[in-house]
Amino acid sequence: MTEKITIAVVGSGYVGLVASVCFAEIGHRVICVDNDESKIAMLRGGEIPIFEEYLPELLERHRNTSIEFTTDLDAATQKAQAIFVAVGTPQSQTGSADLSYVDAVASQIARSITEYKVIVEKSTVPVYTNEWISRVIERNGVPRELFDVTSNPEFLREGTAVVDFLHGDRIVIGVDNERAANLLRKIYEPLTSGEYYQMADSVPGARSEADPPPLLQTSTKAAELIKHASNAFLAMKISFINVVSNICEAAGADVEEVSQGIGSDGRIGPKFLKAGIGYGGSCFPKDVAAFRYVAEQLGVDFGLLREVEKINADQKRRFFQKVRSALWTFRGKKLGILGLAFKGGTDDIRESPAIELISQFLKEGCIVSAYDPAAVERTKEVLPPSGTLSYAKDSYEAATDADALLILTDWREFTDLDLDRLRYTLRYPIVIDGRNLFDRAIMAEKGFTYLSVGRAGGVHAKDALSSRLS
Ligand code: UGA
Repeated sequence: MTEKITIAVVGSGYVGLVASVCFAEIGHRVICVDNDESKIAMLRGGEIPIFEEYLPELLERHRNTSIEFTTDLDAATQKAQAIFVAVGTPQSQTGSADLSYVDAVASQIARSITEYKVIVEKSTVPVYTNEWISRVIERNGVPRELFDVTSNPEFLREGTAVVDFLHGDRIVIGVDNERAANLLRKIYEPLTSGEYYQMADSVPGARSEADPPPLLQTSTKAAELIKHASNAFLAMKISFINVVSNICEAAGADVEEVSQGIGSDGRIGPKFLKAGIGYGGSCFPKDVAAFRYVAEQLGVDFGLLREVEKINADQKRRFFQKVRSALWTFRGKKLGILGLAFKGGTDDIRESPAIELISQFLKEGCIVSAYDPAAVERTKEVLPPSGTLSYAKDSYEAATDADALLILTDWREFTDLDLDRLRYTLRYPIVIDGRNLFDRAIMAEKGFTYLSVGRAGGVHAKDALSSRLS
């Protein structure tokens, strides 16, 4: 049996809540702290403010035994051996990460430290944050030997966060001494030893007793950089394939074939090569900007990241133009929209390309009927229903009498639509798919005018090239 550690997790957002529940799941005692009293009351009552697979079951399993929720950070600090800081690091006006919440938490933690504690950065933070946290704690009078600041970045994706946590590709711990490293290794031992996967009711996933996740120990600064560089690299992969998709459109090739071809190279890998309407969410846009800012501060020109951001913005504009060229004019046209969340499997609409596009269609005078399996309520807070915007109860209602149907989020349920029914529900059988969910041949066979991303129809490469050369 591995040792039970008492862990405080500060912040009950996506990262904090998932980490809290998963630490309890692998056998630790967890105190989840947030200063939002209503959220804490909700969590104590077993209600979960976010849509995340496995989270409700796991919270129910551990709520009255190994996980408690509180607003009392001082008491949590006193009890815990490790304090994970998972508060927000939003984007400031300059593009840098706003670290004021981290700063405030560090000062408050400092007031309650009377014996050795390991403070762990779990939020995405720029390199050197660990040094700032140490400085803040010392300034508050805590002797250096009573604490260590470490970094343990999280690589979970919304929608699959619990599985990503428990079955990760790797666990990174950034530590600058063995004492802190020991505690972090103990915390993750149920996963790294494979013990967790032997349990009868463990959450299923790619990892197993025979193939547990590796633990990578680095310096604290390297761990901070690993997080930013990972997200920036993934965003770059998406922007790269999006440009390739534009070339495919111009040349008359199918980007799905190209993705498969390049992704089969083990050095490149098949993931994050899906062309679409650009990346969104609470992480990539913010982290690419923050990493670019970090580079700038350190005197390094990372112009590549500026290009990644520019391509991402252009990709939405191109899709907008694609809809315009299919409909000719916008005023008074009815658009059925499928998908509001920034990706399938979540109710999160932060930086969602869908929300930005809908706002533009409304500005142009379109009438929009939108549906999303999970994100309607959140969308209503930023785009309330109006004379020109309504929310449908399902995909068919959104499509009813529409001049075109637009697919903006890659929800699996959209791929199961009854295409015959959809065709007769629409006013015109036009589907403009920003996520390449359908097979072009099937859509043509079913009688749709089907436009997608990077999958040019009809124009042969040679024709396109020769017309451009002439
Ligand atoms: C991302 C990372 O994938 C996680 O590893 C990381 O831990 C997390 O950010 C974070 O920093 O907290 P997430 O934002 O939940 O996770 O979503 P992703 O699945 O990465 O998707 C991001 C965006 O890229 C979505 O808008 C998605 O639609 C888009 N995307 C993704 C593509 O357009 N093409 C792809 O091939 C993959």
